[in-house]
Formats: sequence, structure tokens, C-alpha cells
Amino acid sequence: MKTKTVASMAMMIAVIIVLGFIPPIPLGIIPVPIILQNMGIMLAGALLGAKRGFLAVLIFLFLAALGLPVLSGGHGNIAVFMGPSAGYLFAYPFAAGLIGFVTEKTGNRRFVVDYLLIWLIGVLFIDSLGALGLSIQSHMPLDKAFWANLVFIPGDSLKVLMVTLLYRRFKTA
Ligand code: BTN
Repeated sequence: MKTKTVASMAMMIAVIIVLGFIPPIPLGIIPVPIILQNMGIMLAGALLGAKRGFLAVLIFLFLAALGLPVLSGGHGNIAVFMGPSAGYLFAYPFAAGLIGFVTEKTGNRRFVVDYLLIWLIGVLFIDSLGALGLSIQSHMPLDKAFWANLVFIPGDSLKVLMVTLLYRRFKTA
């Protein structure tokens, strides 16, 4: 792997970790908080591309599994992969890979098309797997888990806006 590739992946992992410094907002209705770190996952895919984005997020999750406090709010341990947020975490690398895949198929797309593609993966895909994981882990009816996840949609949609703006800015630079 080239030094430049390694450096860009390391930088993106650092960005994801720094976004985790912003304290999570706990919600009463479900045991999953509002965080900013998932924006970093989307950014990894959009800026690094499919392969490097997937790998960077996988390494980030590996650091969390090792017990390093890299997840939002400064936690990290193997148990999180069996907790209420497990579905989101498992979705992370695939979301980064898929976002990388769709954004690599560039062309001169309109802003709204880039936004929708990133939204489908970064919000619909992650939150759906998250709801599925939450339902299994918390023995919550699946429909209730999906309804509860609607609380993330406004914030997550704003994060996609930021990611789309940054992605398009980097692409033209
Ligand atoms: C963790 O750090 O333990 C994972 C938390 C996952 C939170 C999910 S990511 C998608 C959705 N949007 C949010 O703001 N929170 C949830």
C-alpha cells in the first residue's frame, strides 16, 4: 500500500475519532444516542472511495473492539458489538464501502443526486440495520424499532448535507 494511501486512511480514522469527541445526546425512547461520528463514516466512503473507505472504517472498529476509547463519548470494547448499537456499527464499514462505490461512479452529477445516493446508504441503510440490531438485542418489535429510528432522520439528513458539500468540494479541488 502506498504511503499516500496509508496517510489518507490514517487521517480519516483520526477525523472519525475526533467527531466522537462531541458528546452523544442520549434519548429516552431508545438506548441509542444521537452522535456526530456517523458523519465521519459517510465521509470516509465519499472521500477515500470504496476500498479504502471500507478498510479505514474496519480499522476504526477494530480499535474500538480492542478497547480503545474511540467511539462517541469515549467508549470502546468488544461488548458494544453485542449491545443496542451493534447493528449500526456492523453497518458502518459496508456503508462507507457502498458510499465510496457510488461516489466513485462520478460523472457530472447534480448535487441532489449525490445527496440522495449518500442519504440512501448513510441514513436509510445504517439506520435500518441499526433498527434491526436494536430489535434483536432489546427484544423490541421490529416496527417499533423502525419507528423509533425516525428520531435520527433530521440530524442524519443534515450530516449528509455536510458530507455532500465536502465531497463535491474535494472532488473539484
Ligand atoms: C456507538 O458509538 O456506540 C454507536 C452509536 C450509533 C448511533 C446511531 S448511528 C445512526 C444514528 N444516528 C445517530 O445520530 N445515532 C444513531
